[in-house]
Amino acid sequence: MTDGAPRILYLNRRDIAAVGGDESELYVAALADGLAQHAEGKTVQPLKPYLRASGNHIADRIIAMPAHVGDPGMSGLKWIGSKHDNPERVGRERASAIIVLNDPSTNYPVALLEGNLISAWRTAAVSALAARHLARDGFTDVALIGCGVIGSTQVTALLQQFGQIETVHLFDVRPEAADALATRIKDEHEVNVVVADSAEAAVRAGDIVVPCTVTDTPYIHSDWLKRGSLLCNVSIMDVHKDVFLNADKVIVDDWEQSNREKKIINQLVLEGSFSRERLHAELGEIVAGRKPGRETDDEVIVLNPMGMAVEDIACAAEIYRRAVAQQVGTWLDLY
Ligand SMILES: NC(=O)c1ccc[n+]([C@@H]2O[C@H](COP(=O)([O-])OP(=O)(O)OC[C@H]3O[C@@H](n4cnc5c(N)ncnc54)[C@H](O)[C@@H]3O)[C@@H](O)[C@H]2O)c1
Repeated sequence: MTDGAPRILYLNRRDIAAVGGDESELYVAALADGLAQHAEGKTVQPLKPYLRASGNHIADRIIAMPAHVGDPGMSGLKWIGSKHDNPERVGRERASAIIVLNDPSTNYPVALLEGNLISAWRTAAVSALAARHLARDGFTDVALIGCGVIGSTQVTALLQQFGQIETVHLFDVRPEAADALATRIKDEHEVNVVVADSAEAAVRAGDIVVPCTVTDTPYIHSDWLKRGSLLCNVSIMDVHKDVFLNADKVIVDDWEQSNREKKIINQLVLEGSFSRERLHAELGEIVAGRKPGRETDDEVIVLNPMGMAVEDIACAAEIYRRAVAQQVGTWLDLY
């Protein structure tokens, strides 16, 4: 900014990809730092409000996700909309988002970024980072239920981060979605892909199990999970209560964010069968080395990642820094 007039850097999807925002490495590194800062109390993250103005589906909403990360760090907001039927009705991704970054020294906005690419990759990177600490050493099989944008990014991030993966098991209520993802994975990676006949068949095969559906009706039972498996409960409502009650360790990204909105953990707390005391850890505590991750090959571990604004802002801040350094993006005058 040469004349002191306020400007913001606008970064669309192509700009974000140009600085490394379309693969897992940037996100895993930014999250390892951001989650450790969260564990050390160096973040500010108000509870996110859900705006539900139209539609009755659980995935029809707009969520405001503000956070501050680091010192002096960066502040910002992800504003993420969703309509469950966008893919069939208007031929667009279910979710859409923008991220605003604010310079904490003035609180002026400094950047506006397309947010859905970042959101999908940071969600995938949470699972990949969690797998470093929580998956069984030498795991080989990944099960994905729900083969949309979030699911396909999850599998891609795991394949990028873990060369040891031998087989990916896919299931989707729309077989064409599973088939399309199977073709893409086989084209891009040297790995076996099995399109399963049922969610149960896929889950039973997975060392890492990742539900990424838009369901509000649980269908995964605890006895479907292999001993030694890690369940990354990305779409939150897929698992029956017994999955939490029978797991050896339950981990969340943030307890306050997880224990609300009538999600399964919140239902268990209200019924008196789960509590903060029964929680093993928040993920940041494990990443920061303050609590152990997996301790035996036999444990069944459930990670419940509600999705945190801290993650979005940590990743978007790194993308912004790279874009400024590499002169990528379009400056827009505010006045
Ligand atoms: N935890 C987080 O941080 C986080 C972040 C982003 C998105 N999400 C969640 O991820 C989920 C997926 O998002 P998306 O953008 O990929 O949606 P999407 O609509 O693109 O894909 C969802 C897929 O799931 C399939 N599906 C729906 N119900 C199913 C069921 N019962 N069994 C099997 N397959 C089923 C659909 O056919 C579709 O292919 C959403 O629930 C979203 O809220 C979580």
